[in-house]
Amino acid sequence: MGKTITIAIDGPAGAGKSTLARRLAGRLGFLYIDTGAMYRAIALSARRLGIGWDDAGRLEELARESRIELLAGGRVLLNGEDISQEIREPEISEGASRVSAIPGVRKALVEKQQQMGREASVVMEGRDIGTVVFPGAAVKIYLDATPEERTRRRLKDLAGRGLPAEFSQVLSEIQRRDQRDSTRADSPLRQAPDAIYVDSTSMNEDEVEEALLKIVRERTSNGKEVTG
Ligand code: DC
Repeated sequence: MGKTITIAIDGPAGAGKSTLARRLAGRLGFLYIDTGAMYRAIALSARRLGIGWDDAGRLEELARESRIELLAGGRVLLNGEDISQEIREPEISEGASRVSAIPGVRKALVEKQQQMGREASVVMEGRDIGTVVFPGAAVKIYLDATPEERTRRRLKDLAGRGLPAEFSQVLSEIQRRDQRDSTRADSPLRQAPDAIYVDSTSMNEDEVEEALLKIVRERTSNGKEVTG
């Protein structure tokens, strides 16, 4: 197999990473890997099994033993079962943020992510892809937007799924997650020194897609990584 290319997209909750990473992967013909879905799968599995979201020992074991598959089209399978819908519940967002602070859980999932990136060219999105999972990624993007704009997008997304919510409540949930994700001891959310910062606050999805594609094309050529 030839050399694979990794595009890393990190940033806070609601910055548009999932939509843009999926679109970018489609344009490039790469696999799209949503690493947040993997932390969500562990949080859901723990809740079903009655394992506390702070039970480090059992969660680590669960993360090592769980078979998580990320299928084309965004479907997520846990040990063969489709959990795509359930992992998007607000309670599971909170649980994923909590289980993702546990080093043993991170270690198990990071190993799975690294394996996926070795097997194929990927656009991988999360919090620590450019800093920890693939520090040597060909292209690193840090996608950001103001908390208020991210709240508006999350509300729109929830409304689209028939789940109306309060602006102030969603904003405070986003801020609490930002705080936890960026202050945890292990692999906190932060911009890699060599990542390109993209502020999507006043851009629409098409504009962000074009901006990201331009960054990727500047750093790769004919599918080959431009080194140095
Ligand atoms: O991207 P998301 O909202 O689906 O992620 C859910 C949680 O998982 C988020 O609060 C932080 C955590 N996460 C992480 O710690 N590292 C990643 N690479 C991806 C997500």
